[in-house]
Amino acid sequence: MKTRSAGRTLRFLAAAYRAWNRHLFFRLSPQRAHDTIVGMLRLLERSSASVAIARLLHRHAGCATCTRAGGVRLSGRLILSAGLVKGDGFADEAAALQAVAAGRNIIPGWRVLPALVGPVEFGSFTRHPRLGNQGTVIWRQAETQSTQNRVGLRNPGARAAARFLGDRRHLLPAVFGINIAISPGVSDIDRQEREVVESLEFFLDARVHPNWFTLNLSCPNTEDDPQGFQLESETKRLCGALNACLRLRQLDIPLWVKVSPNLAAEQYRALLSIFHEVGVKAVIATNTVARPSPDDDGISAGVGGGELFPDALDAVLQLIAERRRGGYDVDVIACGGILDGASFDEYRALGVKAGQYWSALVYRGPLAAAIIESELARHEHEYEAVHRESLA
Ligand SMILES: Cc1cc2nc3c(=O)[nH]c(=O)nc-3n(C[C@H](O)[C@H](O)[C@H](O)COP(=O)(O)O)c2cc1C
Repeated sequence: MKTRSAGRTLRFLAAAYRAWNRHLFFRLSPQRAHDTIVGMLRLLERSSASVAIARLLHRHAGCATCTRAGGVRLSGRLILSAGLVKGDGFADEAAALQAVAAGRNIIPGWRVLPALVGPVEFGSFTRHPRLGNQGTVIWRQAETQSTQNRVGLRNPGARAAARFLGDRRHLLPAVFGINIAISPGVSDIDRQEREVVESLEFFLDARVHPNWFTLNLSCPNTEDDPQGFQLESETKRLCGALNACLRLRQLDIPLWVKVSPNLAAEQYRALLSIFHEVGVKAVIATNTVARPSPDDDGISAGVGGGELFPDALDAVLQLIAERRRGGYDVDVIACGGILDGASFDEYRALGVKAGQYWSALVYRGPLAAAIIESELARHEHEYEAVHRESLA
């Protein structure tokens, strides 16, 4: 009964959010809308009352189903993926550390978003700060509920991010992940290894212990070859080094890896076998797919949302088939076009236990995870009713 009334409230909120998008939010350019939201998060985080209200809203929305995936007990099956709670960009580490020392909120959303939406992956963080790409870097295609971006890994760098979160570790959410990316432009494997291990160590030294770490091997919007980082031997070294570092400190924090869509079947096969061999607990499939940017077809930008869905679904299908074939202990976390109960259900039908979303936040609103869960519950309920009737 309680679930049914929560479902009704969520349906009402979903309709209200659609109207807000049509009449207000989508009148702003995607870039402006994004900047406004980040500004609002910063403002909200000035007061702990807003965090308490966010937590209340989350609890009231209900519908989250706990699950275990990738070695983590998740308080909800849907995780806000990396890219929103990643922080400001800086030209260098000294400036980023100075901002932390001055008490500036360099990672807007770190407190209020997990309270409102449930599990969140922070990052991507690179070893050094990055300003990312300049100008317009975010677009949307409302017809297909897609987003496109070439933010270019703008972030404060792992050292400053770790210090910022470490200073606030008693306020960190119960369930969150940290996504570490290889610095664009760094192709030397020794340096890549050094940088990702250093990044991990900054968080551990600051006693920031997330529920999982993700190594992001897939950055389609930084002008790097998105497949270059996903070669077998490199992947084995990087994942092996990160897991060795965690083992050395006797920390049982699982490592996940995020991959691109549209890799060759043999590449997914080889990667999964390596993940199993080096103890990676989950693969997030997938990051965005590179397409020409709306403003300049000479430059590519990563597409997420409805347009990514078929490619991500295909990657998940291949990875799950391979996982079954090899008997591998690596979960597949779906990411790409989870926008409603039906799209999430397609992944679940393949055997996926948890998913990540980004574009749904734009098209379904801040309670997207709860709305999608409630649509799924309704869908399952209707299916069961039809099934019972046909058996009667
Ligand atoms: C503006 C923006 C920034 C993103 N930045 C990152 C990032 O820093 N690291 C990362 O792993 N993925 C990043 N992503 C990709 C998302 O995490 C997600 O993989 C992708 O959008 C597909 O999910 P969706 O179809 O639900 O949007 C970003 C996506 C967007 C829209």
